[in-house]
Amino acid sequence: VGHIDDVQELRKSKSSHVPERFIRDTTERPKFDKDIVSSTNSIPVIDLSKLFKGNKDEFLNEILNLTVSCQEWGFFQVINHGIDVELLNSIEKVALEFFMMPLEEKQKYPMIPGTVQGYGQAFVFSEDQKLDWCNMFALGLEPHYTRNPKLWPTKPSNFSGTVEEYSREIRKLCKNLLKYIAISLNLNDDVFEEMFGVALQAVRMNYYPACPRPDLVLGLSPHSDGSALTVLQQGKGNSVGLQILKDNSWIPVQPIPDALVINIGDTIEVLTNGRYKSVEHRAVTHQEKDRLSIVTFYAPCYEIELGPIPELVNENNLCKYRRYNHGEYSKHYVTNKLQGKKTLEFAKIKPD
Ligand code: SIN
Ligand code: FE2
Repeated sequence: VGHIDDVQELRKSKSSHVPERFIRDTTERPKFDKDIVSSTNSIPVIDLSKLFKGNKDEFLNEILNLTVSCQEWGFFQVINHGIDVELLNSIEKVALEFFMMPLEEKQKYPMIPGTVQGYGQAFVFSEDQKLDWCNMFALGLEPHYTRNPKLWPTKPSNFSGTVEEYSREIRKLCKNLLKYIAISLNLNDDVFEEMFGVALQAVRMNYYPACPRPDLVLGLSPHSDGSALTVLQQGKGNSVGLQILKDNSWIPVQPIPDALVINIGDTIEVLTNGRYKSVEHRAVTHQEKDRLSIVTFYAPCYEIELGPIPELVNENNLCKYRRYNHGEYSKHYVTNKLQGKKTLEFAKIKPD
């Protein structure tokens, strides 16, 4: 992706023309009817203080809320998550400062095709593939061998320090969430922790400039996440952009100030034999407002062999996924275009 396909540069040119490579087929274009925009059918909210320090009733009630959220929605927002709001503001600030730098500066950290690390557009493998109206900057975080030090920006000066601190806090949150998810499935609370080894963690910052024709483009193509869990922070005061597919319609995720959006990734869908869903989602753009999201992916380390947890397979829920290791899945994920739920077919047991 060169200069001409960098969406922030396109935006700066103030042209009302959207290049052909961004224009979606009619079936893929987003709809902006009032119904969708003002939909009250919204993703569930989990109050984490009820799990951290609630009494027994509050705890059990919130666990039930979590079960329903993971089964029916695959997405929920967490409030009272314990992460300092100052830190959420800081990561947003350094991310914005990064994206506001001149293109030449950002291109010192080019996205390496097939890795999803660095600055640019990920998941692009052919000339005729449509491009997303989005700039990404992604970094591997944990374990340390996944880091590419050459891709860590030197500007803004507090970028690396802030990312480190943020990722430590988000890691704690993921560990806690997986513990509660295990409890909600009637499993030992440390089952995921024990299984995952030194969990993989990566961060991706998505910058969606305003687009003259939001009706023709997508900010991010429909996909499910290859992670176990994803934690998404939506920029303050941004437009609504994230949409999830539920019962065949796209539902917008209305940001709640200082809340974090959590979604179940493909790994948890496989481990729970489909009880908990990795739901397809996408991002749309806005005609006047830019949007920023900061996304953390949390997953088992590459060597871990995955497959449905035996306790969750029975005659009413026959085994739907084969065994494979996370490294294979991760490679499959990053070397294919985003393609809705199709990526997970990799793990499906094919009917004979
Ligand atoms: C994502 O799915 O990775 C990001 C979606 C968003 O920007 O809200
Ligand atoms: Fe995603």
